[in-house]
Amino acid sequence: MEQSIRLNNGVLMPLVGFGTYQITDSAECERSVLAAVEAGYRLIDTAQNYGTERPVGAAVRACGLPREELFITSKVWFRNHPEGACRESVYRSLERLGLDYLDLMLIHWPFGDVYAAWRDLETLYREGVLRAIGVSNFSPDRLVDLINYNEIVPAVNQIETHLYCQQKTAHEWMAKYGVAHQGYAPLGQSRINHMFALPCVRAAAENHGRTPAQTALRFLVQQGISVIPKSVHPERIRENIGVFDFELTEEEMAALSAVDNASPMIGTATDPKRAEAAKNWTSREL
Ligand SMILES: NC(=O)c1ccc[n+]([C@@H]2O[C@H](COP(=O)([O-])OP(=O)(O)OC[C@H]3O[C@@H](n4cnc5c(N)ncnc54)[C@H](OP(=O)(O)O)[C@@H]3O)[C@@H](O)[C@H]2O)c1
Repeated sequence: MEQSIRLNNGVLMPLVGFGTYQITDSAECERSVLAAVEAGYRLIDTAQNYGTERPVGAAVRACGLPREELFITSKVWFRNHPEGACRESVYRSLERLGLDYLDLMLIHWPFGDVYAAWRDLETLYREGVLRAIGVSNFSPDRLVDLINYNEIVPAVNQIETHLYCQQKTAHEWMAKYGVAHQGYAPLGQSRINHMFALPCVRAAAENHGRTPAQTALRFLVQQGISVIPKSVHPERIRENIGVFDFELTEEEMAALSAVDNASPMIGTATDPKRAEAAKNWTSREL
């Protein structure tokens, strides 16, 4: 199968990328990104909030690949949403990364002045500083509203997606508007790794001589959903991109689909308690 998807603006995005959330040690982050590039990853996911833009940039420069072979995503933190502030924060991200453009910039959470931030991102996109722009943690109603009242349709919506939270309804809305579905926490962030012990996961893994993690990732990738698993262990980093040389059967896909209980683990922006709590969230970098 193809290892990339074409975004709604024609840009190619790898289906499997490498996540860097919670790699708080910069040296470990740089090492892990280098191991990921070595293993074949070409998409690296960072964010202002993760504090990993500097080590990601260092790895990009050290890996020896031409810049254009890599796809680098970052995300604007919501305190940077006011018009003008978003633009400045994108330039700070670029400075931390040591890059002169980003392949994809996302609005990290739909809090604060999202529309002002989007107008800044639209301008930076038109200026060529950002090759694609998108959103994250947007429920379908927020996504449709943003699309209705702006010029550029987001290329990507990055949302929590794994076996227990397959986002079937959101996926349909994104498909309707040509917004690519990118799944974060595709392995359940290790918090719910008992999903690896599910009989249908084990059976499919054994049938194809793969690991449960590869099975869980392949299930998403086979539906055209991009995934960005994180690991700091080289053997797992290699394992997680080994999803392109086997295919789950229709029966296996149906069994894995039935596991969904539509329960986000990280939480959704539509929960008023979360919106309330977000007022006190801090970011590692702004
Ligand atoms: N947009 C957002 O709001 C948002 C939110 C969360 C995450 N993200 C992005 O999505 C990326 C992925 O999500 P995530 O890091 O939260 O969770 P994840 O990728 O689902 O899970 C990462 C956890 O799984 C473990 N792991 C990795 N490979 C494994 C394997 N093959 N077998 C068993 N365990 C394995 C890792 O441990 P080790 O590291 O010890 O191997 C780590 O504890 C993030 O890094 C970030 O870039 C975005």
